[in-house]
Amino acid sequence: MNHQKIALVTGASRGLGIIISKMLMEKGCKVLGVARSEDKLKQFQDEIGEKNFQYYTCDLSKPEGLPLLIDQIKSDGHHIDYLINNAGLERYDHFQNNSQWDVINIINTNLLAPMELTRLLLPEITNNGGHIVNIASLAGKKGIAYNTIYSATKAGLIMWSDGLRQELNETNANVTVICPGYISDTGMFHDGGVDAPPLLGTSPPEAVASAVWEAITKNRAEIIVNSGPIKPLLAIGQLFPRFGDKVVSWFGVPKLSKKRIVSS
Ligand SMILES: NC(=O)c1ccc[n+]([C@@H]2O[C@H](COP(=O)([O-])OP(=O)(O)OC[C@H]3O[C@@H](n4cnc5c(N)ncnc54)[C@H](OP(=O)(O)O)[C@@H]3O)[C@@H](O)[C@H]2O)c1
Repeated sequence: MNHQKIALVTGASRGLGIIISKMLMEKGCKVLGVARSEDKLKQFQDEIGEKNFQYYTCDLSKPEGLPLLIDQIKSDGHHIDYLINNAGLERYDHFQNNSQWDVINIINTNLLAPMELTRLLLPEITNNGGHIVNIASLAGKKGIAYNTIYSATKAGLIMWSDGLRQELNETNANVTVICPGYISDTGMFHDGGVDAPPLLGTSPPEAVASAVWEAITKNRAEIIVNSGPIKPLLAIGQLFPRFGDKVVSWFGVPKLSKKRIVSS
């Protein structure tokens, strides 16, 4: 008999993590949600019910806590089929104004934690024929002024997923990276209270959740979630970076990011 699939979703206390968790539960999975805010995780569990949603509080920026988190999950008797590395944070500022702590905090949360959770869970995910889904960003495809550390971590997530996918080719474990653009209604962009550049637009959070399910069921390498056709522009930007700078500037991206220094 097939067991109920279990998904570990990081960043399940708000934003996209909630929408992704709800989608996975609708598809019949049990979700183990991870974040720091116990009150929000508890509130979500009260809404959903304990049967399908359990939570673990953990500060993912602290690598020493990650083996303890996985030990706790295992000692509670859970096997993991899907790891959704969704937790993330950004910080809009002139690069020079970031402290060393800011740099480490963003790198640890956005890049080191997904790597470490994957490292700890890979034997089990491989055994279960499971899937790792990394939520990156279009900010990892083209650098974003005033959000450069975030951009660097998302580029790292994309390239690490790319290498790992090839490395795991002959195994039962699969990896997908998802690159959303600006997301409406909930999450870090929406909470910033700034309008997206009209030429880029926004996508609904449900499109990211659908991409997660498509990743798992169709074993996609990479999924871009954006309202417009961005792929040709990204390709041109790879060939001609300064032309890429002009295009993002024409779209109003650096201007928007600069506005978010004030509003963040
Ligand atoms: N929203 C967008 O427009 C957009 C676009 C592209 C990519 N993305 C990516 O999508 C993912 C989800 O973003 P979102 O918009 O849902 O962001 P969000 O609303 O700010 O939520 C971030 C989630 O990550 C958790 N988190 C942050 N730091 C953590 C830490 N140190 N330890 C544990 N959990 C931590 C937060 O929980 P606690 O604060 O409770 O710990 C929260 O649940 C991120 O990786 C983001 O980069 C978002």
